Amino acid sequence: MRVLSGIQSSGTLHLGNYYGAMRQHLELQHEHDCFYFIANYHSLTTIQDGSRLRELTFHVAASYLALGLDPARVTFFRQSDVPEVTELAWILATVTGKGLLDRAHSFKDKVARGLPVSMGLYCYPLLMAADILIYRSQIVPVGQDQLQHIEMTQDMAQYFNNTYGQVFIRPEPRLSEAPVVPGIDGQKMSKSYGNTIDLFADPQVVCKRIMSIKTDSTPVEAPKDPTRCTVFALLKLLASPEEVQEWEVRYRAGGMGYGEAKARLADLYEQTFGPYREAYGRWLARPDDVEDILRTGGRRARVVAQEVMDEVRSACGIVTARA
Ligand code: AMP
Ligand code: TRP
Repeated sequence: MRVLSGIQSSGTLHLGNYYGAMRQHLELQHEHDCFYFIANYHSLTTIQDGSRLRELTFHVAASYLALGLDPARVTFFRQSDVPEVTELAWILATVTGKGLLDRAHSFKDKVARGLPVSMGLYCYPLLMAADILIYRSQIVPVGQDQLQHIEMTQDMAQYFNNTYGQVFIRPEPRLSEAPVVPGIDGQKMSKSYGNTIDLFADPQVVCKRIMSIKTDSTPVEAPKDPTRCTVFALLKLLASPEEVQEWEVRYRAGGMGYGEAKARLADLYEQTFGPYREAYGRWLARPDDVEDILRTGGRRARVVAQEVMDEVRSACGIVTARA
């Protein structure tokens, strides 16, 4: 099966990215033909500083490698190394009704929060659909916030096929076991909400962040509801199932303070991500190797994209002088 996913290079990666998407990506690399890329064209909708975007792109690449992405198994590349996706995004725009894009939740959220709204942000789902369709992707593993974008991709594939004949296959989303990871304030963890716990942060900084997780004011002696607690939601991601069960019993029994659960969460974070942080440091010291990996992946991905684009152009009657 062709599995594809992308992550923007628009900030520091956090536990939401890892448990919502990246962990699944890394598991799937053992069983499927995986294409993973850094969505640097998408990132231009938020990062408009050239050196910062270059740096973040390199950091996302180093992060995936540190977490165990095997470039011999995965086609790992930068979105911009396959410029045909922007061409496909345009062609999809011509068969897609404006109403579909008007309904995009993530766009509407940004408008509601008063953020500046560029045409790039509005057209974001078109480029994402092009990313997915150009590699004939069958499975797209993502967090819950991306589900609607994948449904829109299914619609766009259908619009194109209805107009020009069967060219695209229908991709299906796949959610991880943690489709929405909460941040330290209990809302969805997101770099734009400032509530993240980062993947490779300094242990002291993380410890402080964990200690500041918002909890309710139930006294230590009283029983607590684990299903309403952010600390417990994060423990569930990091602890073994047996340990999670023990915490659940302790929450419900009372006599346990949230501070204790937070301290354990900080320990587990260090156990899990300490070794990855070291690996990340080692990749940061090898920029040329990272660049080679991305270029090799980009060449492989482009071969597939060019074949599909030949079919697309031929179906719509676009004649080019290109070989
Ligand atoms: P982004 O950083 O927006 O490119 O997101 C990369 C991937 O991480 C996408 O598949 C998102 O759905 C996923 N993701 C981001 N934040 C969360 C979260 N709080 N919970 C679950 N998945 C998330
Ligand atoms: N929009 C995705 C996000 O913010 C990133 C992305 C871009 C993507 N293109 C994609 C994810 C294609 C999956 C498939 O998380």
